[in-house]
Amino acid sequence: MTIAIEASILAADFARLGEQAREAEDAGVDAIQVDVMDGRFVPNITFGPGVIRALRSLVEVPLEADLMIVEPGRYLKAFVDAGANRLIVHQESCPHLYRVLENIRELEVEAGVAIGPATSLTAVEEVLGLLDVIQVMTVSPGFGGQGFIHSQLDKIRRLRRMLDERGLTLPIIVDGGIDPITAPLAVGVGATVLVAGSCIYNGERSVVENVRALRASFGKAEVRRGR
Ligand code: DX5
Repeated sequence: MTIAIEASILAADFARLGEQAREAEDAGVDAIQVDVMDGRFVPNITFGPGVIRALRSLVEVPLEADLMIVEPGRYLKAFVDAGANRLIVHQESCPHLYRVLENIRELEVEAGVAIGPATSLTAVEEVLGLLDVIQVMTVSPGFGGQGFIHSQLDKIRRLRRMLDERGLTLPIIVDGGIDPITAPLAVGVGATVLVAGSCIYNGERSVVENVRALRASFGKAEVRRGR
């Protein structure tokens, strides 16, 4: 199974967002994740559909909107019309998660759900059949540059096992604190998509060098199924 890298533009230079998105695309990332935050579901405010629209005209890679907002169901069409290829909603912000996921699929884009560090797998067990991806947060949502929460590795392992037992081969996205040290740990327990912001856009080295180093970090890590 190939491992995908997604660049989170949350860590990019906002004064050069389009340029930094292009740099990530040229560096070979598989998608760009746009962290949408409303200052209510999470204590930070970031991007809206307009940023997706602007990026859509600049890059070819898939754009994934990670909707860290209350009542995301109100904005699904706006983000799809702006050019998002995949919408991820957070289980903790969706009292009617089943309906929200159905609504995303009706818009004919990929649907994902994210679960935070305190949320157990049982919270999404009943909607696995509606998902194209599932995202495990390895930080508390809201900010980039946080430390990887290692206790989530066991959750990822159990999630991969849960999917295997159901004959589902859903990609598992891991988001938060991903770098060349934590990436192989996540891949080793069944993650197949790595979202990285700070370790790609850190200014110490070029975006190309950072993506290359990240990809090299798990090159040898065998993708183990959950046991
Ligand atoms: C948290 C954000 C971050 C971001 C990646 O809400 O979703 O996880 O995408 O941040 P880094 O890679 O800087 O931890």
